[in-house]
Amino acid sequence: RTVAAHSGAAELGPYRHYMQKEIFEQPRALADTLEGVQGIVPELFDGANAAAWRVFKEIDSVLILACGTSYYSGLTAKYWLEAIAGIPTQVEVASEYRYRTSVPNPRTLVVTISQSGETADTLAALRHAKSLGMRHTLTVCNVATSAMVRECELAYVTRAGVEIGVASTKAFTTQLAGLFLLTLALAQSQGRLSEEDEARHLQALRHLPVALQAVLALEPQIISWSEDFARRENALFLGRGLHYPIALEGALKLKEISYIHAEAYPAGELKHGPLALVTDQMPVVTVAPNDALLEKLKSNMQEVRARGGLLYVLADADTHIDSSEGIHVIRMPEHGGPLSPLLHVVPLQLLAYHTACARGTDVDKPRNLAKSVTVE
Ligand code: AGP
Repeated sequence: RTVAAHSGAAELGPYRHYMQKEIFEQPRALADTLEGVQGIVPELFDGANAAAWRVFKEIDSVLILACGTSYYSGLTAKYWLEAIAGIPTQVEVASEYRYRTSVPNPRTLVVTISQSGETADTLAALRHAKSLGMRHTLTVCNVATSAMVRECELAYVTRAGVEIGVASTKAFTTQLAGLFLLTLALAQSQGRLSEEDEARHLQALRHLPVALQAVLALEPQIISWSEDFARRENALFLGRGLHYPIALEGALKLKEISYIHAEAYPAGELKHGPLALVTDQMPVVTVAPNDALLEKLKSNMQEVRARGGLLYVLADADTHIDSSEGIHVIRMPEHGGPLSPLLHVVPLQLLAYHTACARGTDVDKPRNLAKSVTVE
């Protein structure tokens, strides 16, 4: 409401806040980011003065440096890079990496991820890595004219458009698209991408805008969840494998705009401590895609229910998890394969948004936070 007053309702269209507008812009943002990608070629990542093919053939590992939501897209990319490209990948919080004594490997591709391209910690971490002799650098960034793009050899500039809400949404999903393309390009340079795989993955990427549109249609069901969450002070988010970083991102979204203390765990970690937190007052969001870990996740959910925990489950269309006492299920329209994280994050963005609205917080400008942390 306040933002609309200052910024002119015209810019917001039918939306109440920039964050809601940006959540709903994601199909378009992905279509724009992927526009013109006819095939997997290293040139997609060429820098102003460097050819990606030359770099890709020299590297034997990846080090990802980022902060906040961008760190979570990096964690997601690690699962892809190791499973699909077979390339050892490390992901580090930039503010930790820049100060620790690490062991440099000159054949590492240093990948920075940043919506703004101006985050002080990420820029400092990049410069630290370069000072250690790691000269192959690539950034996935949403601002072509940023310091990050200038200081990296290679770049994939996403086309999410200006992101005004402090809580990052469309930048995150377009980062994931860029990181998946990078995974395919590195797989190709390692001789691990068949023409069939390339075609199949490109088809799935091109289908994303339609798939996201279908997920956005779940908003009414998410609004009913948010009415429960709005009166809670704590929440747990669980995910496994590729979707553990998505649980982390969902918890960060809820924390930063609704001020509810939310944290995420790999579901297999529950019994190693967090289960002690579970009571009938604790909502537990579970990201439950129909993948190889589903049966294990179901037993984690039973652990939660046995303690009276309130389950809120994002289940895929073709899984048999039914709503019942203490178990709320929203069924995702379709399974996204390796791109499933881009679909499962959207209901979590909407949950954070509507919970914050119900709590009356300043959704676009949450307390204590800045859109781009350009100072330490
Ligand atoms: C995410 O919603 C936050 N706004 C914050 O964590 C952000 O992702 C982080 O500050 C990194 O910003 P960047 O992507 O511009 O580098």
